[in-house]
Amino acid sequence: MRPRTDEAFALEQDQADPLRAFRDEFHVPAAADVGGEGAGPALYFVGNSLGLMPRATRAALAQELDDWARFGVEGHFHAKHPWYPYHEALRAGLAHVVGATEREVVAMNSLTVNLHLLMVSFYRPTRERYKIVIEDTAFPSDSYAVLSQLDFHARALGFDPARGLIRLKPRAGEASIRTDDILAAIDREHATIALVMLGGVNYLTGQLFDLRAITTFTRERGIAVGWDLAHAAGNVSLRLHEDGPDFAAWCSYKYLNSGPGALAGAFVHERHLGDATFPRFAGWWGNDPATRFTMTPDFIPSATADAWSLSNPPILAACPLRVSLDIFTRASMPALRAKSLRLTAYLESLLADLNARPGHARVGVLTPTDPAQRGCQLSLLLPGDARAAHKALQRRGVVADYREPSVVRVAPVPLYNTFHDVWRFASILGEVV
Ligand SMILES: Cc1ncc(COP(=O)(O)O)c(C=O)c1O
Repeated sequence: MRPRTDEAFALEQDQADPLRAFRDEFHVPAAADVGGEGAGPALYFVGNSLGLMPRATRAALAQELDDWARFGVEGHFHAKHPWYPYHEALRAGLAHVVGATEREVVAMNSLTVNLHLLMVSFYRPTRERYKIVIEDTAFPSDSYAVLSQLDFHARALGFDPARGLIRLKPRAGEASIRTDDILAAIDREHATIALVMLGGVNYLTGQLFDLRAITTFTRERGIAVGWDLAHAAGNVSLRLHEDGPDFAAWCSYKYLNSGPGALAGAFVHERHLGDATFPRFAGWWGNDPATRFTMTPDFIPSATADAWSLSNPPILAACPLRVSLDIFTRASMPALRAKSLRLTAYLESLLADLNARPGHARVGVLTPTDPAQRGCQLSLLLPGDARAAHKALQRRGVVADYREPSVVRVAPVPLYNTFHDVWRFASILGEVV
């Protein structure tokens, strides 16, 4: 039997949604403020780019400013949320979101910075074993980061950096990269590969990789493995501790709703913690808190992932993350993922309805149809003049992301998107395409 797709069904789903109250915890932009015509809120489907602002963030930031005004430096101990241990209060929430132990996670810097810091520790090339594996459509910043790491080490070790990058591609005519093909590529060149670093969810296609299978296979061949979880953290169920990668990093401005350029996160597996001889770049905030303020010149690494942090945390950037993690802890990742699976499946069914209309131009989908291989995002391939169609969607109050030549990425986010949002999007798309 075909799943129901009518408007009444969407409204019923929203009524029965145990997470429905969370939408009211966010500011949803008015359509008129984001390029749309007409009244009412926008249909916001770009939580994969910049998540919406939680209403609680403004007051939380004002509290930090008030505490700064009131206490000055004493705010480190007397602020409502004391600044000195501020980053420690973020650990439980981060651990929940990425499936780690609290010791394995740290909030620091931004994503590309963290990837570099972690590669300093985990990309340890030799003249013979120096290659890095990424997806062909890795986010450009990841490509630049690994190319510059290759170049940096090539100067000292004398290998050819131009031969150092293995880019995984889908088979001809396919959009996703098959797990078997990934494993075969790693196996083929395993003696020369030093690092596998993939995006947990590919930013363009929305493909969710099999973290466990790829991590296990890679580690069995003595190769370091790290994940860029920019599009996975807060979107899909992660079990980093169990899956066992060496490291991971993610940003917090997408699904984690912590604001533009927000404080990012990093994971280092427990097996690497507490080793004072581990190669890393160091700063005082990575020092064991027991001796941090003795101000001695010798670095004693913290026994947690904090050992990778350099500077004291920026409180005004950490504050929105604290607010956001509180929301995630209350909503819980299992409940969010359960709703997300249904919301995206509903969007998929509506697209199938559109495509079944006689004479309707076909909307393609780049994202895998298997729900276990995707997060909330569907990457649509629009027929005809896709740029014009995207503009027309925007005029109708839809905020979705356009990538050349014809991809529109749509991310129904379970914290604040509704089934009715998805229904309205599909009916507008039907008129526009
Ligand atoms: C997959 C991925 N990697 C890296 C980045 C770059 O992040 P940042 O500018 O925070 O370093 C992004 C940004 O959107 C991304 O989506």
